[in-house]
Amino acid sequence: MKNSIQKRLFITYGVAIIIGFAILALSLLRIFDQYFIENRKELLYEQGRKVAREAATVLYSGNPNSRSLINDLQVLDRFLDAHIWVINSDGIIVAVSGLNEERLLGRQVREEKIGNLAKGESIEERGNFDGMLGESSLTVGYPVFVNNRFSGGVLVHASLLEIQENFREIYRLTLWVILISVAIAYAILYIQIRRISEPLKEISGAAKVIAGGEFHKRLNINTGDEIEELGNSFNNMAKSLERIEENRRNLIANISHDLRSPMTSIRGFIEGMIDGTIPEDKREHYLNIVLDESNRLIKMTNELLELGNMQQGSLEIKKEAFELNETIRRKLVAYEKGITEKKLDVVFSMFEEKTFVLSDQVLLERVLSNLMDNAVKFTPEKGSIEIRTSTKEDRIKVEITNTGKSISSEELNRVWERFHKGDTSRGLHKGGYGLGLAIVREIISQLGERIWVSSGEGYVKFTLTIEKA
Ligand SMILES: Nc1ncnc2c1ncn2[C@@H]1O[C@H](COP(=O)(O)OP(=O)(O)OP(=O)(O)O)[C@@H](O)[C@H]1O
Ligand SMILES: [Mg+2]
Repeated sequence: MKNSIQKRLFITYGVAIIIGFAILALSLLRIFDQYFIENRKELLYEQGRKVAREAATVLYSGNPNSRSLINDLQVLDRFLDAHIWVINSDGIIVAVSGLNEERLLGRQVREEKIGNLAKGESIEERGNFDGMLGESSLTVGYPVFVNNRFSGGVLVHASLLEIQENFREIYRLTLWVILISVAIAYAILYIQIRRISEPLKEISGAAKVIAGGEFHKRLNINTGDEIEELGNSFNNMAKSLERIEENRRNLIANISHDLRSPMTSIRGFIEGMIDGTIPEDKREHYLNIVLDESNRLIKMTNELLELGNMQQGSLEIKKEAFELNETIRRKLVAYEKGITEKKLDVVFSMFEEKTFVLSDQVLLERVLSNLMDNAVKFTPEKGSIEIRTSTKEDRIKVEITNTGKSISSEELNRVWERFHKGDTSRGLHKGGYGLGLAIVREIISQLGERIWVSSGEGYVKFTLTIEKA
């Protein structure tokens, strides 16, 4: 991956870490430097002041070659690791501590430096002191006054290199600590970035697998953050896709199965007629069966197509106010034949003479037809059907109850599925394909109403709501 998040985060944060630590390192080194040099300076001043007292007497007496002064200077030179010069009020060097510095005796220090000393101020500077010193040094100068008269000064030089040499170990330690901190920071950064980028890689890998048609793929991300949330959403999506895919497979399997048996029987009858196995006088009977089967097939394909269209939202709904009791009565008349044939006892109890509802009349009649059809179909002979209306808040409730074998609670949820038929209805009532209730549910949900089914000892009850007009 050329421009991976991992790389980008690594570079961005990496640069930030390095800049941060570099600033820290530079500041630390500067602070150390300052501290050590300051320390050293104080020491030099202190010694300078001590020498100044002794130098005063010598300068006053005008005997710069005093043995004891030279001795003291030499001791201090060794002890302080610093070179000490004594100058007179003209800036002429009159005494030095180092043996190899004797060549400087008699040379004059630049006016500007004396000026400050003469004002009673001490001086300090870094450098090689106008080329008079061999290496870069730290110099402090201390004025000497005798009887309130400026009479010269003491200059103490310490090699800067030597000062730094003494503290090199500390510098090194500091640098190591910083380097190790950078390394640790990088390691933590790396782990954190992987925590982000690894699951993302996993998700994208899983997406590819799913795109390839393997819907069972699931992620297991436990980062406890938004990425885990993303993973969970992804899993939910995969679950939905898997369900859709399974539905699709089932649908195809069901359609093929339900198409095959009528087609086989149609083919069988026609073959029988052509090859004469079915005698001339029975032909009409079998032709009627063939017609029936063809009609059923047409009905099924139509309903399936219609259901598909409804689910895609192409159902046109025209709500209007109409009278419900009359509609129900008309449905009862339509099923009169089946009712009398099975000697069913039908009761219609309405809670008021005229009930006006607001709905799509055509679609609602379709729902009632399907429910009545089922009730008549699944009620055993001499059983009974009861239709009852009642009112609840802004809705009318219609209950259609029929006697007969109860539906188990697991099956209750499945009656709405396409092609679902109860075990018995598969054998006993070959008439249906199990599409009726799927259509009912789709219509009811698009009308914005509710429908539910319940079943107990010896009865099945469908209840639906309709908006009051
Ligand atoms: N009133 C009822 N009493 C008992 N069982 C019922 C009743 N209504 C539906 N069922 C059960 O639910 C199943 C699904 O019903 P649905 O109306 O969807 O299909 P169907 O009536 O078998 O076929 P179709 O409606 O397509 O002609 C039925 O096969 C039956 O097992
Ligand atoms: Mg039905």
